[in-house]
Amino acid sequence: MTSWDPTLYARFADHRNRPFFELVSRVGAGDPRLVVDLGCGNGPLTLALAERWPQARVVGVDNAASMLEAARSLDTQGRVEWVEADLSGWRSDSLGAAPDVVVSNAALQWVPSHLGLIEGWVADLADGGWFALQVPGNFAAPSHRLMREVAERHERSGELEAALRRAGSAEPATYLQLLAGAGCEVDAWETTYEQVLDPSGQQEDPVLEWVSGTGLRPVLDLLTEPAERAAFIEPYAAALRAAYPRTAVGVILRFRRVFAVGHKVSSPGYTERDAGGDPSETGQLS
Ligand SMILES: C[S@@+](CC[C@H](N)C(=O)[O-])C[C@H]1O[C@@H](n2cnc3c(N)ncnc32)[C@H](O)[C@@H]1O
Repeated sequence: MTSWDPTLYARFADHRNRPFFELVSRVGAGDPRLVVDLGCGNGPLTLALAERWPQARVVGVDNAASMLEAARSLDTQGRVEWVEADLSGWRSDSLGAAPDVVVSNAALQWVPSHLGLIEGWVADLADGGWFALQVPGNFAAPSHRLMREVAERHERSGELEAALRRAGSAEPATYLQLLAGAGCEVDAWETTYEQVLDPSGQQEDPVLEWVSGTGLRPVLDLLTEPAERAAFIEPYAAALRAAYPRTAVGVILRFRRVFAVGHKVSSPGYTERDAGGDPSETGQLS
């Protein structure tokens, strides 16, 4: 299991939060009873779901104790139920009710079997429920390609390549087909953000710092001994500096992300009234 550092992860909160809000703006649920955040992380975005739907029961699921600890300390009102579980074996029937909204932001790329799990999660949704996911679509970007190239030259190349192979996501069309096949009307899209890192020029390696909070975690978990870690980080940092040169506005990291929102409408006899409102009237779908 990959380790997570809540403090390092939170350092780029603005860049990381924006895709989440763009994702959930396409969820048209009016008055959901049960909202679930899969791979909820350190909590602020799960709390944003609780704020949007103040009457809802909200559950955050994650398998990293460190992230859940940070989430619990942020949730001073005890608004969210924080559940420690691995998504590869998690079904919402453990909650005793069918979710009306399931959101997963920047997490499913860490669950190798996630394409095979989505159908079950959608089946478990209440009629009229929503399933919304966002995953990075940047595995071909220099940040990740260089990671794999440096791993190939490292003395522990076999283990590094295996650890890096575990992470991955699919194309928007794949999620579209999957959610449609599970009985949803689907809205799938991609966005590439031109993220400006370190505009004030205080960091030597802002891209390295960015990936250290997410994509590089499997490497950092494996290479705990200082010399073997340095044998990876030094050439990788140099390659990143060349691939992402500093500009007048800062270091620009192009970041492609993949989004899909499914609205489960296929059950016989389902009407918008059953879901507590017509989503087209919530103003969330414009
Ligand atoms: C990049 S963070 C995203 C956190 C949050 N959703 C956000 O958008 O800020 C990925 C999260 O997925 C969790 N995660 C990764 N693999 C998981 C798994 N198999 N089961 C449950 N959670 C997992 C990690 O612990 C981490 O908190």
